[in-house]
Amino acid sequence: MIFVTGGAGFIGSNFVLDWFAHSAEEVVNFDKLTYAGNLNNLESLRTRKEHLFVKGDICDREQLQALFALHQPRAIVHFAAESHVDRSILGPGEFVTTNVNGTFSLLEAARAYWSGLAPAARDAFRFLHVSTDEVYGTLGPQDPPFCETTAYAPNSPYSASKAAADHLVRAYHHTYGLPTLTTNCSNNYGPFHFPEKLIPLMITNALAGAPLPIYGDGQQVRDWLYVGDHCAAIRRVLEAGRPGQTYNIGGWNEKANLDVVHTLCDILDRVAPKDGGGSYRTQITRVQDRPGHDRRYAIDARKIERELGWRPGETFETGIEKTVQWYLSHREWVRDIQSGDYLKWIEQNYFNRNAA
Ligand code: NAD
Ligand code: TYD
Repeated sequence: MIFVTGGAGFIGSNFVLDWFAHSAEEVVNFDKLTYAGNLNNLESLRTRKEHLFVKGDICDREQLQALFALHQPRAIVHFAAESHVDRSILGPGEFVTTNVNGTFSLLEAARAYWSGLAPAARDAFRFLHVSTDEVYGTLGPQDPPFCETTAYAPNSPYSASKAAADHLVRAYHHTYGLPTLTTNCSNNYGPFHFPEKLIPLMITNALAGAPLPIYGDGQQVRDWLYVGDHCAAIRRVLEAGRPGQTYNIGGWNEKANLDVVHTLCDILDRVAPKDGGGSYRTQITRVQDRPGHDRRYAIDARKIERELGWRPGETFETGIEKTVQWYLSHREWVRDIQSGDYLKWIEQNYFNRNAA
């Protein structure tokens, strides 16, 4: 069986669903259920006996060790994290606790368990750490995209905490021989994406008739990858990645934020026209920029293609159309999320941003 952390979040829940679409191997899904964790994402697995959900915190090493001893995983796939840059700006402490201390505690529990395995099981064991392209910092317009040897230069508390975790994972391979794999992926989008991030926020705000807040000039560039493609890449790295290696994962889809929002408005104008006519583009508003906002991310994903034969299956056009359709047909999922805590966040992040 495999042990997944953070499997009730956006990418983790897509990964677990995708796993069972391809395999009957058991999954222990370990998640703290923070504001970002949502068991509704896993509703379709309710009767699946190979899926065991356990509520817990990756900072709790004893609980992790007890679970490893009981379930004897052949691999750990580590998604659990605080993941939103704006939240890391307003409250960095939780990012250090979960992303740095939590990853350290998970590594220690994994090392203790792995050290006690028989030689063949030790060799076959994998610790796959899911990370981000944001650890590499920001690119100028003419810079080549990030590759696996690009120097780390994280700029936000979020990316700094992920970079620290990446370094610990690297050290556990070099020092103890733990068979680790690290993936650094670009921005994901798709089903079950929490509506605090750009794409789901814009879709849900548009449909609610609310403003579409563009930070600064909206010319910041992200390299968008459909979440299902990320899940396929992780499965492939787990299957055939070389221990101690890192793999960059990206969509070859660089887009400026304003262009992404225009595309979303245009799709919605076609498939869910505004009551009373007019375009959703009229809801776009400029707001104050994010402090320390990285200008451009882009991934060179040639290594994973060359060594493991992975390439994204979706283009931005096909992936974004699917995503809009998903949000249109899952309004209840959105409604359930938009509870008291969500509204508090929206007020905290947007209320004091003056128009740019
Ligand atoms: P998310 O915020 O949607 O989900 C995080 C999950 O982790 C939630 O279910 C939450 O309950 C759980 N969690 C948080 N703290 C925990 C703790 N202490 N113990 C156990 N569980 C805890 O995040 P996501 O967007 O799904 O990202 C998953 C991983 O992928 C993260 O490590 C993130 O850094 C990385 N990543 C994300 C993106 C992206 O575009 N979203 C891109 C590249 C990499
Ligand atoms: P986000 O989804 O938060 O991902 P990240 O910061 O990890 O790349 O943001 C994507 C881009 O969209 C980023 O450049 C910030 C911008 N953005 C806005 O312009 N308005 C918003 O309300 C949000 C949430 C993000």
